[in-house]
Amino acid sequence: MQTVAVIGLGYVGLPLALQFARSGCRVLGLDIDPTKIDAIHNGRSYIAHVPAADIAAQSADGRLEASADLSRVSAADAVILCVPTPLDAHREPDLRYVLDTGRAIAPHLAPGTLVVLESTTYPGTTDTELRAVLEQGSGLVAGKDFHLAFSPEREDPGNPDSQVQAIPKVVGGLTPACLEKATALYGKAIRTVVPVSSCRVAEATKLLENIFRSVNIALVNELKLVYGAMDIDIWEVIEAAKTKPFGYMPFYPGPGLGGHCIPIDPFYLTWKAREYGMHTRFIELAGEINTAMPDHVVRVCTEALNREGKAVKGARILILGLAYKANVDDDRESPTYKLIEKLEALGATVAYHDPHIPVIPKTREHAQYAGRKSVDAITADHDLLLLATAHEAYRKHDFSAFKTSLVDTRNAVAPQHRPERYLRA
Ligand SMILES: NC(=O)c1ccc[n+]([C@@H]2O[C@H](COP(=O)([O-])OP(=O)(O)OC[C@H]3O[C@@H](n4cnc5c(N)ncnc54)[C@H](O)[C@@H]3O)[C@@H](O)[C@H]2O)c1
Repeated sequence: MQTVAVIGLGYVGLPLALQFARSGCRVLGLDIDPTKIDAIHNGRSYIAHVPAADIAAQSADGRLEASADLSRVSAADAVILCVPTPLDAHREPDLRYVLDTGRAIAPHLAPGTLVVLESTTYPGTTDTELRAVLEQGSGLVAGKDFHLAFSPEREDPGNPDSQVQAIPKVVGGLTPACLEKATALYGKAIRTVVPVSSCRVAEATKLLENIFRSVNIALVNELKLVYGAMDIDIWEVIEAAKTKPFGYMPFYPGPGLGGHCIPIDPFYLTWKAREYGMHTRFIELAGEINTAMPDHVVRVCTEALNREGKAVKGARILILGLAYKANVDDDRESPTYKLIEKLEALGATVAYHDPHIPVIPKTREHAQYAGRKSVDAITADHDLLLLATAHEAYRKHDFSAFKTSLVDTRNAVAPQHRPERYLRA
């Protein structure tokens, strides 16, 4: 039985660890966060779409074990890194987590081990920075004494039909032997493995996928403003365009980008491109358009209040949805935080409602909101309702009797459920 160590048991690492365990591997889940280790030992889940029963079943079978002791990679045949790759305060790549993990495991790497990086990053990270810390700390040579590869994760949070084993996995290796090892490893747990010629191609593939989304979201956000000025409904246009059976796929406008990937990953490439004297104009422009969206939403809120003779200052505003995406409990980089910040700066009193996030967790970026609680119910005692996330609960909610204005940034409220004062932003 092969032993696979998965380091970083978050949104990416935990489902992957479970999939390897289900596929018959012995899995060692490693994380520096003791609450996650504790949860796994006790068969609890800390990610909404990962059933606790799955964790309990794999732990009970002895297939999944969790630990904070990174030296235990010495017993693993393969080590997969799923740690964060955020941007720093200057919006530059922060490889600290990847490189710290590399440094921590290097002295314990046994010859012949396969190391795979899954964290999204710029091309060259695996075969230069990560390779260097692993070689320095282990005294081993990559591609000769141990194997090294990159394989990007493709998570689709909130999609109940998305299963780890069914999503094709791109893999690039440092050498043909590294690629062979990595392809064989993922072949145990994932139905389709897509080998590519290098770690850099695999890294670049992930960035292409995320840049494609960022640019297309920016395009519909811009068209929303242009068509809006012409009194044309962008959502109706998208529904019509969607009927084209080829050459088009729908993207939807919204209050701004959110989540761990799209607002961050493209800028990994922007940073790296500078080293080659290249500019990533599409990425920058998309970033500019998407980050301006919360300002547009605030303008529409101001207009909605103004129509009732009210000012933003002193208005009581309820934002519906804190999660960055429908039906998930993930608030990372959520545009709702930007909306709260901007509306409060104008003097509004802002509350939020989110059935998936009852209390705002501690985050590095929005520490000031930690502990703030979701209101229990959507009541009419506000001056304005602002729908920021298209949760199913809001799609079903009947707002038609509300006298309060409702600004909908997602086109989520069905025509028969809209209040009289309804605006889209
Ligand atoms: N969430 C997604 O949908 C998604 C999709 C594709 C790719 N990714 C990429 O995958 C990577 C991980 O993302 P995530 O969403 O799983 O992040 P996450 O924050 O949910 O999980 C990361 C985990 O790593 C742990 N960790 C941090 N430093 C560590 C260290 N030195 N040693 C051991 N554990 C450590 C943290 O405690 C945390 O549990 C990122 O590069 C991200 O860009 C994420």
